[in-house]
Amino acid sequence: MNDTLFAIEHVSYGYENAGTGQPLALNRVSLEVKRGDYVALLGHNGSGKSTLARLLNGLLLPTSGQVLVDGMDTRDADARQRIRELVGMIFSDPDNQIVATLVEDDVAWGLAARGWPKPRIVERVGAALDAVGLAEMRGRPPHQLSGGQRQRLAIAGVLALQPACIVADEPTALLDPRARGEMVALLHDLHRTHGLTVVHVTHLLEEAALADRIIVLQAGRVILEGPPAAVLADLDRLRALRLVIPELAELGQRLREHGIYIPADALSPQALVRALEATR
Ligand SMILES: Nc1ncnc2c1ncn2[C@@H]1O[C@H](COP(=O)(O)OP(=O)(O)OP(=O)(O)O)[C@@H](O)[C@H]1O
Ligand SMILES: [Mg+2]
Repeated sequence: MNDTLFAIEHVSYGYENAGTGQPLALNRVSLEVKRGDYVALLGHNGSGKSTLARLLNGLLLPTSGQVLVDGMDTRDADARQRIRELVGMIFSDPDNQIVATLVEDDVAWGLAARGWPKPRIVERVGAALDAVGLAEMRGRPPHQLSGGQRQRLAIAGVLALQPACIVADEPTALLDPRARGEMVALLHDLHRTHGLTVVHVTHLLEEAALADRIIVLQAGRVILEGPPAAVLADLDRLRALRLVIPELAELGQRLREHGIYIPADALSPQALVRALEATR
């Protein structure tokens, strides 16, 4: 098994329908993501996050450069099915991914399409629904589920195929604050307990702060990369990238200016309280 899950080498991407003179959506991006990483892709609107996400499982193919997934080139048509099994995608709107009229049938869909025997499907569907906390909803039609539950259903459909990685492109964008928190917690739980690699696309610093590593995109280039505490230490730079600075980040910065040490990635009330307690 390959320790490097994604090797992105000098990748550029230009949309064919982009007008002449339009800058590339991605411009010579090189990155590596190891198995078991939790990576946040952070950037303002139009910075190239979704383009990069779609290159990770061959939904888009690089205009130049190459994307290797577990050593397989996404341009290799023979490898594409295997790559799609390794890398599951989640988008903002789960309704684009829900296909069946019952929750359990929806999760079974991908396995049934691959001709799996019924008993093994039932087993996998049960495990996937348990993992996302929807076991009790299995007999319900998806439209009776809340937005947050439907997003978890979409994740169960992906998990049933036992991917190595979930690429989630702004998975919380349509959710209310509570469901948003639950979705982020679920992704971290899947990372911790199932060893899944997660690539979490977001424009929210609060979400990115929880990752192991943040990759910041601007105008199709990687301009900053590192652990959250390092990336979030320079709020002026992030402000210049038109990212919304959370109030707690401002508060942390002011406290640091007064000599009270608050780590730059303490962006939740809980993290701030923990940091303050540690200073006593
Ligand atoms: N289908 C498309 N056709 C032409 N240009 C596109 C297309 N999709 C994206 N682009 C352009 O490519 C660039 C990168 O877009 P992308 O969607 O990857 O950014 P993003 O960071 O995901 O933005 P957002 O935060 O709005 O989702 C932008 O300039 C965008 O206008
Ligand atoms: Mg996007």
